[in-house]
Amino acid sequence: MKHWTVQPAAGVTGRMRVPGDKSVSHRSLMLGGIANGVTTVEGFLASEDCLATLGALRALGVQIERPAETSVRVHGVGLSGLKPASASLEMGNAGTAMRLFMGLLAGQSFDSTLIGDASLMKRPMERAARPLRDMGASIETVEGKPPVRLHGGKALHGIDFVMPVASAQVKSAVLLAGLMADGVTRVTEPAPTRDHTERMLRGFGVDVTREGASVTLRGGQALHAMHVRVPGDFSSAAFFMVAGSIARSGELYIENVGMNPTRTGLLDILRAMGADITIESRDDSGPEPLATLRVRPARLRGIEVPLDLVPLAIDEFPVFFIAAACAEGVSLLRGAEELRVKESDRLAVMAEGLAALGVAHTLLPDGMRIDGQPEGAAFRAGQIDSHGDHRVAMSFAVASLRAAGPIDIADVANVATSFPGFSTLANSMGLRIVAADGAGAA
Ligand code: S3P
Repeated sequence: MKHWTVQPAAGVTGRMRVPGDKSVSHRSLMLGGIANGVTTVEGFLASEDCLATLGALRALGVQIERPAETSVRVHGVGLSGLKPASASLEMGNAGTAMRLFMGLLAGQSFDSTLIGDASLMKRPMERAARPLRDMGASIETVEGKPPVRLHGGKALHGIDFVMPVASAQVKSAVLLAGLMADGVTRVTEPAPTRDHTERMLRGFGVDVTREGASVTLRGGQALHAMHVRVPGDFSSAAFFMVAGSIARSGELYIENVGMNPTRTGLLDILRAMGADITIESRDDSGPEPLATLRVRPARLRGIEVPLDLVPLAIDEFPVFFIAAACAEGVSLLRGAEELRVKESDRLAVMAEGLAALGVAHTLLPDGMRIDGQPEGAAFRAGQIDSHGDHRVAMSFAVASLRAAGPIDIADVANVATSFPGFSTLANSMGLRIVAADGAGAA
């Protein structure tokens, strides 16, 4: 099993770019696949998760070219041009791929089966299956989990769906099914969630309207191929935002970071903690805003995370816990029970790792309380098991900037699901990650 040994480092310095946004990359392939014409994608994230989506679309008869690692040409087959795959569609570790494909495939004329890796096979799929059934789809899960079997040939109709959980994946699945449905589909969210699907659908020429917490579209609208410029992934930049903040020295510039306001909750949280992060330049010209961020070390203060920021920072809490461990006083996260059904149970797995590194904390059913250490080392040397969770592995690598000794992190191969090249990039900024057990460190 691949693991890292991370030696303590004092600082991170330099100019960098993180790979493309995972959410936007998945969507560019799926929407390009059902559009009319050739969609070109620039800045595509060539990670395992997005390549699972790419492979599944090919299996469904979409021709996809990759003229370069990060550029893709998708030959769209139109709203009703997908063909049955000859085998189960393999989603790997990607919950986003599975739930969005449920929406895309629910209204097709053929059957499909969706499977994934050991982590994905344990994740809840009824949250997407239920509203799709209300639209007329026939879907089976096994005790709420994959494999997901979709029986085709069902005529879908629009619904007015009030989402019980704030989930962009469920919202997107229903909107994608809504494209193939008769009539109008409306989704109302309990709190704002990432809106990449809505933004991109508009780019493809679909009339999508938002009124307050509700998003509405009419079925049967054709998508017209477009050029998608994928921003750098804010969630990948987040590791370096925290690294640059807790470091003792250095200055980081992170270029081309996606600044969609439904994604940037961690920036607000870190700034409220006293972080020195400034927006150096901003480009609002495309559907997804971009910026260069400058990050300098700062003395952080503990924070009670405002509830409305929880969905807007949902993927960033593992690395937020690292920041909180380096902050003065107590930090408190509540209302984040969704973390228990991510790639791992991120509350339990992070609590286990924080305990191994001597961080004072209390695990709560829906969050965590952390007592930070603003002076000197905030983490002792120790051994971490990431439980195959990419964001847990990268978060504990960042902790090395304030560690008293080496941190060993087991089971890091899944870093390649979202951030291929992380260790090389992090080391070029000043981290000291040594990968062991096989070549090709993530
Ligand atoms: C995603 C939505 C979020 C997020 C995931 C990506 C997406 O999940 O955690 O990493 O691309 O729509 P939920 O919608 O389940 O909260």
